[in-house]
Amino acid sequence: MRVSFTVNGTPVQADDVWPGESLLYVLRERLGLPGSKNACEQGECGSCTVYLDGVTACACLVAAGQAEGREVGTVEGLHAGGEPDDLHPVQQAYLDAGAVQCGFCTPGLLVATHDLLARTPRPSDPEIREALAGNICRCTGYEKILDAVRLAAQRMGE
Ligand code: FES
Ligand code: FES
Repeated sequence: MRVSFTVNGTPVQADDVWPGESLLYVLRERLGLPGSKNACEQGECGSCTVYLDGVTACACLVAAGQAEGREVGTVEGLHAGGEPDDLHPVQQAYLDAGAVQCGFCTPGLLVATHDLLARTPRPSDPEIREALAGNICRCTGYEKILDAVRLAAQRMGE
């Protein structure tokens, strides 16, 4: 089947999509957008977090057909300006706080953090922990991730 939707503001379509295929597979393997990571494919790790009509979702749990006609936002769309190298303040804060090690969890955390700060510009630590509870990191021990979110919140509030 053909699936048509919008990714980061650009209309896209994918052909020959199998009905059981996930949105994550279509993004990564058919549309050339490998930013969203596939770490568990079971909705457990959050590495595939994307926006679906403005609400975060695990792309591995969304059937591609469910994206028909909808707006998808991926980590590739988070950059600040017209160029991919223009990092969003959330991305820059993760780098500056040393919150990126292997990086596998990072795209999902960036989207989840972006979402949190859009809803709650000055989150408390418990609010940060709750917002990121669905995003598993095996490397950092989470302290630097908390630092990154605090730093991003501070910079974005200036
Ligand atoms: S790959 Fe989707 S939640 Fe882990
Ligand atoms: S940096 Fe490796 S899983 Fe988070």
